[in-house]
Amino acid sequence: MKAAQHTTYNKKNITLNITEIAKPSITDKEVLVKVTAAGVNPLDNMISRGEVKMIVPYKLPQTAGNEVVGIIEETGSQVKNLKVGDRVFGRLPLDHIGAFAEYLAVDSQALAKVPDYLSDEEAAAVPLTALTIMQALELMGAQAGKTIFISGGTGGVGGMAIPIAKAKGLKVITNGAGDSAERVLNLGADRFIDYKTEDYTKTVSQVDYVLDTLGGAETEKQMSIIKKGGQLVSLRAMPNGDFAKRMNLPKWKQMILGLAGRKFDKMADEYGIHYNFIFVESNGAQLQEVADLFSKLEIKPSIDTVYPFEEVNSALDKVANGRSRGKTVLSFKK
Ligand SMILES: NC(=O)c1ccc[n+]([C@@H]2O[C@H](COP(=O)([O-])OP(=O)(O)OC[C@H]3O[C@@H](n4cnc5c(N)ncnc54)[C@H](OP(=O)(O)O)[C@@H]3O)[C@@H](O)[C@H]2O)c1
Repeated sequence: MKAAQHTTYNKKNITLNITEIAKPSITDKEVLVKVTAAGVNPLDNMISRGEVKMIVPYKLPQTAGNEVVGIIEETGSQVKNLKVGDRVFGRLPLDHIGAFAEYLAVDSQALAKVPDYLSDEEAAAVPLTALTIMQALELMGAQAGKTIFISGGTGGVGGMAIPIAKAKGLKVITNGAGDSAERVLNLGADRFIDYKTEDYTKTVSQVDYVLDTLGGAETEKQMSIIKKGGQLVSLRAMPNGDFAKRMNLPKWKQMILGLAGRKFDKMADEYGIHYNFIFVESNGAQLQEVADLFSKLEIKPSIDTVYPFEEVNSALDKVANGRSRGKTVLSFKK
């Protein structure tokens, strides 16, 4: 079967190698999935650049791709939650990625059933970003009626984070690229701010929670609009000691990340808020909760571009070059 693989860690080269490898076999707890679509994420390029080696040290070559949609062709003897023929999707376990391939063997607990109203390509836009917002809201202890600011809400994360936060009863303020204002408001955002024409730190204050998708200098700006005791969860700034402990990383990594994230912990102390970092993990049960919510509300994910699998490197370039208007997806249909 064909698979697109990371073959080197290289800061300057994100090209994957499309190669022929053996079709995988399954263990008792796994299912064999015939892949029909896969989500393409900034994370795929970060892995190529070696930027997540501290969190997950992949041995190369490694089949790429973190987010999958497909049909189950075989189930292991202990699999109870899924059956042959089910259309499933999932964010793959950190130590078991490989969605950019014609077939995939994966733990059945990482998957959920795709709501009928979604096409395979639409479904591919859901798992990673939906689980990101679910896990961020859980960490914040988010409560209905409170306000969340989602930065960069015009990208892939925002497309999922906004409708899910709304469905959980939150008021959503977001910023991003001005030409996506209408799309983002249609996703349910209560207020949209064009980041090129308005400085939100002058007009937004006292929010309860922030989902920081930008990092860099934006993280401190976002801390400044949170009320005392509030929570910021960053996807982009810097892992810290709390994160390393939650992820059960070895003690030496906890120490290094504790030092790396200290700047943000201290900054958060000065603003009287809590700083958290997350790295989204697979969770089939949590994704099923999202799928059930989606089936009720018929939320349509925002898709930017669908590329055929053979053009995986163009898709990765697209993601690397920004100007995202939703999710980039690979299709495996001939
Ligand atoms: N830690 C985790 O578990 C996790 C999970 C998911 C995603 N992430 C990370 O989260 C980040 C966002 O992901 P994504 O898929 O949403 O990215 P994306 O699709 O590239 O979207 C980024 C969006 O932010 C906008 N933007 C850029 N600069 C901005 C600014 N200063 N203020 C407001 N908006 C701005 C962009 O608009 P223009 O570029 O057009 O101006 C674009 O619409 C990525 O770095 C990704 O790696 C991390």
